[in-house]
Amino acid sequence: MVAARITVNGKETPISPAAPHTTVLDFLRERGLTGTKEGCAEGECGACSVLVARPGVHKPTDWVAVNACLVPVAALDGQEVVTSEGLATADASGAPAVLHPVQEEMAVRGGSQCGYCTPGFICSMASEYYRPDRCAHAGPADGGDGSDGGSDGSEHGPNGFDLHALSGNLCRCTGYRPIRDAAFAVGMPAEDDPLARRREQSAPQPVATRYTQDDGAFLRPGTLADAVRLLRERPEAVVVAGSTDWGVEVNIRSRRAGCVVAVDRLPELRTLHTGSDHIEIGAAQTLTEVERRLDGAVPLLAELFPQFASRLIRNSATLGGNLGTGSPIGDSPPVLLALEATLVLTDADGEREVPLSDYFTGYRQSVRRPGELIRAVRVPLPLSPVTAFHKIAKRRFDDISSVAVAFALDIEDGTVRKARIGLGGVAATPVRALATEAALEGRPWTARTAEAAARVLRTEGTPMDDHRASAGYRSAMLGQSLLKLYARTTEAVPS
Ligand code: FES
Ligand code: FES
Repeated sequence: MVAARITVNGKETPISPAAPHTTVLDFLRERGLTGTKEGCAEGECGACSVLVARPGVHKPTDWVAVNACLVPVAALDGQEVVTSEGLATADASGAPAVLHPVQEEMAVRGGSQCGYCTPGFICSMASEYYRPDRCAHAGPADGGDGSDGGSDGSEHGPNGFDLHALSGNLCRCTGYRPIRDAAFAVGMPAEDDPLARRREQSAPQPVATRYTQDDGAFLRPGTLADAVRLLRERPEAVVVAGSTDWGVEVNIRSRRAGCVVAVDRLPELRTLHTGSDHIEIGAAQTLTEVERRLDGAVPLLAELFPQFASRLIRNSATLGGNLGTGSPIGDSPPVLLALEATLVLTDADGEREVPLSDYFTGYRQSVRRPGELIRAVRVPLPLSPVTAFHKIAKRRFDDISSVAVAFALDIEDGTVRKARIGLGGVAATPVRALATEAALEGRPWTARTAEAAARVLRTEGTPMDDHRASAGYRSAMLGQSLLKLYARTTEAVPS
């Protein structure tokens, strides 16, 4: 096996002697690339943002911005990374000579004061700058002009720049208006732009990695068969996909593992196809990939994605990871419960399919056995036509929910034929609101029914008082969510 190495700003660099838990952020900074900063070390500020060449949705390669503080450098064995230093064009001596168009706009529009956050903003902006379908959104601003945004909550500038690309980047001193001005001023990449041209070639293939040092091992099997065999031999191994959860454990709680097994590039976990009776989503597709590949085909998921953490996190995080951690406040379970999703679990003995409603068994516990992987999530078809996802949190983006609720209703001839409601943040596990579903089904979709069902919904689960919200507030928000859905479905369409 070839020694682990990573290409940084065009230069191949051995990963050794970094420890298996060393993050990309620490690896870069230890090699003098100090533009990449540590602000929070838990994926919330974006100061560490860098670009990674990934298989593209619309071109062979996408330049994807990720949080370097969360990703182990061994996870990028064989991959290409560009930092803020690598965006400027170098002169003959190797010194940056010409600013990248994104850097230029940030400089001339006053998008930087102390500069701490700036390289991270630059990388997130560059990722959006190179998004191949950005021009498809070019036109009048739909919210980035200070209004409330497009009907779907989008905030695109006249150059098609989606301001949500920066939702994972924080700035504490400049203020966001000059940064937004810079984002909305960038043009389209020039024909001879090297990173734009790089998109036309394939992204680096994932490579099987066996990176071991005294203090542990980072292993990336090449196939699903190798992965399940390895997990049978090493049931104690920590399984990671985007590492957005494990990276926080490593940085903030100083957790270490003797063996980490990465499954995020396994081809068998990266499929997405639509059959006659279900859509199957590979568990290791990133949320951004699922969002862009589905392109609104599952409206409830389309409503979820913009509210799931930040673009930086969604560029790494996976549905399988969100379900695998078993968190009671994960954002995807309420939506997938309302969609009646099932999970395809696989191990060395074969596959089994488990309804998500039977998957969670306790706080961060599930029916998944040691050594078993989530291979895919299946969403049955046809979809219920009336859906909504309400995430109640202190911030609009990049926050943890106090409570979350997803609705999927079939309403025919004014009667609720079927109701599926998923809840998060009201119990030790995500749960279905079974009593509320029963209070809706077979009843006319009227204000009276909605109010009666909302009263039931307020009693579902056992919400707690904590620093995010009181139990009473959580219950009240559940009821309000149903009333809001009713109001939305019955409000007059403005002429
Ligand atoms: Fe804050 Fe990485 S250092 S997101
Ligand atoms: Fe100082 Fe953003 S420029 S934190």
